[in-house]
Amino acid sequence: MRECVLISGGAGYIGSHTAVELIEAGYDVVIVDNLSNSEIAAVEGVRQITGVDVPFELVNTCDIEALKKVFDKYKFNSVIHFAAYKAVGESMEKPLMYYQNNLTSFMNICQLMVVYNRPNILFSSSATVYGDAEHLPVTEQTERQPATSPYGNTKQMAEDILRDSCRAYPVLHGVALRYFNPVGAHPSALIGELPRGVPNNLLPFVTQTAAGIRECLSVFGNDYDTPDGTCLRDYIDVVDLAKAHVATINRMTQGKMRQDYEIFNVGTGCPVSVLELVTKFEKVNNLKLNYKIVGRRPGDVPAVWADVKLANEELGWKAERTLEETLAAAWKWEKRVRNIKD
Ligand code: NAD
Ligand code: WQD
Repeated sequence: MRECVLISGGAGYIGSHTAVELIEAGYDVVIVDNLSNSEIAAVEGVRQITGVDVPFELVNTCDIEALKKVFDKYKFNSVIHFAAYKAVGESMEKPLMYYQNNLTSFMNICQLMVVYNRPNILFSSSATVYGDAEHLPVTEQTERQPATSPYGNTKQMAEDILRDSCRAYPVLHGVALRYFNPVGAHPSALIGELPRGVPNNLLPFVTQTAAGIRECLSVFGNDYDTPDGTCLRDYIDVVDLAKAHVATINRMTQGKMRQDYEIFNVGTGCPVSVLELVTKFEKVNNLKLNYKIVGRRPGDVPAVWADVKLANEELGWKAERTLEETLAAAWKWEKRVRNIKD
């Protein structure tokens, strides 16, 4: 029988790409989402790419009664929990909304996995848990810094909830994947990132500026202690990131975990500066981007990138796409969404 995976937040950016890769790897998937930050078109995109009529349940994962019905209806052994709010700035203004949504939804999932005797929980964590790390690249052993936003705090708290639950309930196995900076889109351009309003993240701002929706990209600070003065990040292609989820689900369903709770960094291991990303985007897509250097953005760390040895060795997974391929796919997606012809 084919293994089934429940994907909470599966209509979102990373969830939709993960659904595609899981299906292509031979899994059945069920998508649960309340569409609070996504469109049903993403589910249709998944169906179009894979040719599979993926089941979709319009459910708020904070609603435990509605979630129970999903557990009754589908016989999955694994859940990937993406469903969360993710805007760092907004979480400072509306902390209760973030704690309520991100923690209630996760605890509901954990609780029902125990009650229904379903073993595997993969949780979407973030490099944000490392804060401004003293030594780079960061390994999974690098100590977490106190969270600087309620959003970051929900990631740390959820990691701890998962660790403690896996320790206490023999049925549970958990993995937290700490994503670095997910970017890009599926090469088909049928799914990609669709931020609502003004993008906070760099690459959507870049593609929207290239599309003429934003007048000018602000590069936040060029006086950091880095080679060109702009911040360094580890930009991980979303398809590579999706494949890391497949490798993790394989590990969990095949009983290959070494501990009940494991953590993996998911990045490329290569630091890239803001200006490098902008220059590569211009080159690979043969266009000029309107940008200006402005002051630092409060809260930004100068540099963070991943040590990916553990994921490479234990998951047998490695980022494969080049930054050029990723930047081309991101622009292809933006052009499709905005109906821009070549
Ligand atoms: P996204 O907003 O595109 O996807 C999240 C999905 O969850 C959305 O479709 C949203 O509608 C859904 N959702 C939110 N609350 C829900 C609820 N209560 N019930 C049902 N559905 C709900 O975000 P994404 O970029 O795909 O991120 C997925 C996960 O990865 C999140 O947990 C996020 O915190 C984490 N993450 C993202 C990044 C990033 O930069 N994109 C980096 C690190 C970690
Ligand atoms: C990248 C670089 C900016 C926008 C955030 C969250 C983190 C994780 C990933 C969820 C920085 C610079 C950006 C712009 C710019 N999300 N920049 N002009 O801040 O590394 O991480 O997303 O877990 O928690 O904090 O990503 O894409 O916002 O910024 O110059 O208009 O681009 O200063 O150096 P960040 P980002």
